[in-house]
Amino acid sequence: MTIRLTWYGHACFLIKAGGADLLIDPFITGNPTAPVKAQEVRADFILVSHGHGDHLGDTVDIARRTGATVISNFEIHNWLIGQGLEKVHPQHIGGGFNYPWGRVKLTIAQHGSGLPDGTYGGNPCGFLLYIEGKKIYHACDTGLFYDMKLIGEEGIDLAILPIGDNFTMGPEDALRAVKLINPKRVIPIHYNTFDVIQQDPNEWAKMTQKETPAKVTVMKPGEHLEI
Ligand code: NI
Ligand code: MN
Repeated sequence: MTIRLTWYGHACFLIKAGGADLLIDPFITGNPTAPVKAQEVRADFILVSHGHGDHLGDTVDIARRTGATVISNFEIHNWLIGQGLEKVHPQHIGGGFNYPWGRVKLTIAQHGSGLPDGTYGGNPCGFLLYIEGKKIYHACDTGLFYDMKLIGEEGIDLAILPIGDNFTMGPEDALRAVKLINPKRVIPIHYNTFDVIQQDPNEWAKMTQKETPAKVTVMKPGEHLEI
């Protein structure tokens, strides 16, 4: 079975799997690269990696409109309940849960997670998705960490990695991440949204494909990929 991914810019993906629409880190309003409007996005489940505005994004509005279930860490879960959402599933780092369309495990991420109103958002996370027999690792916002090697031991079909620098790994560390994870395919994200994270993804792709066996797919916001 194929999995269809659409990049909405920055760290946001819509993934169609097992008949469900999974939306990850829906920062759409205020994202200059977003190819859609928050009001037109579909979602059955929304995955939120941490509390920063460029990841939490339009979660509350989209969940209210669509009735989507939000998956996040326990602290963000509590905050979302406080915002009036009812369908919120808490998980935490290292824990996985089987949803009707596949499994989600939260991984560590080296970053922060404060919510927009200053509430403590717990530890940030990445996502390991087990869907349609494939494994997708979305690192979300993180610096390089050696335990990426443990994540790689699972046999990753697709790794989605930040390359923007300043707030997350930059190109060199993202290349080291690919070497630790050893995924079949990589998509670079979290670049060129803001002035301080300007990068050339094609240069990164060239360098990474020279030094690792991974196939790099550089996407444009709004583009689809099937794996
Ligand atoms: Ni962040
Ligand atoms: Mn970010």
